[in-house]
Amino acid sequence: MDQAEIKQTLGRAAAEGLVKSGMKLGLGTGSTAIHAVRRIGELLSQGRISGLRVFPTSFQTRSECEKLGIPVYSLNSPELGGGLDLTIDGADEVDPENRLVKGGGGALLIEKLAAYASASYAVVADETKLVEHLGIAFPLPVEVIPEARVPVSRSLEKLGAAVVLREALRKAGPVITEHGNLLLDIRFREPVDPEVLEGEINAIPGVVENGFFTGPRGRVLRPLVYIGRADGRMELRD
Ligand code: A5P
Repeated sequence: MDQAEIKQTLGRAAAEGLVKSGMKLGLGTGSTAIHAVRRIGELLSQGRISGLRVFPTSFQTRSECEKLGIPVYSLNSPELGGGLDLTIDGADEVDPENRLVKGGGGALLIEKLAAYASASYAVVADETKLVEHLGIAFPLPVEVIPEARVPVSRSLEKLGAAVVLREALRKAGPVITEHGNLLLDIRFREPVDPEVLEGEINAIPGVVENGFFTGPRGRVLRPLVYIGRADGRMELRD
């Protein structure tokens, strides 16, 4: 199987295995999670599930839901009341304890809101995402307000990170997030403690959020991870 087929298999399997009628459901962003969105659209149109209330984590996911007729709500709406039963999302890196790096698609802020507001959390990731230590191979995104770019970069360097401002591909200048912020992609040279760093980075003035997903204070995030192998096997790891 090529990577695109693996992503499709994972997204569809998570949607079929986990989504039940009436759920308050967070839907993630990216080229794997989009297949869960599409499968949910099919299941709804076939009448196999009903009554979903969906919280999309990005423009990409919202517009796909709208195209497919999947009902979307704000997390602030009375229909969701600030909480979700389940979120399904992709990841950029997964370590042996199922801790994550996310935000390769720039949607980390709302993705983390969904993840930490969910009773259950499922991640769909092909085996190229499995790493021993987070934040070394794939950069950790840090969303910052524009005015804080340089001071936050200096603070991140003091934490031992190499910092690169994420540049746009078909626009001159940086990527601007859906919330009007910038993304600093940072890499550590040596293994770090993601639980400690998640909090330390967010304590720097001007940081909005970072892409370590280890769980909100006092609660460890324990995602169910669907891992897709190149030979076509799929493993569940929790
Ligand atoms: C979006 O901001 C990310 O967190 C994605 O979930 C992550 O980059 C995984 O994306 P793919 O499924 O496209 O690899």
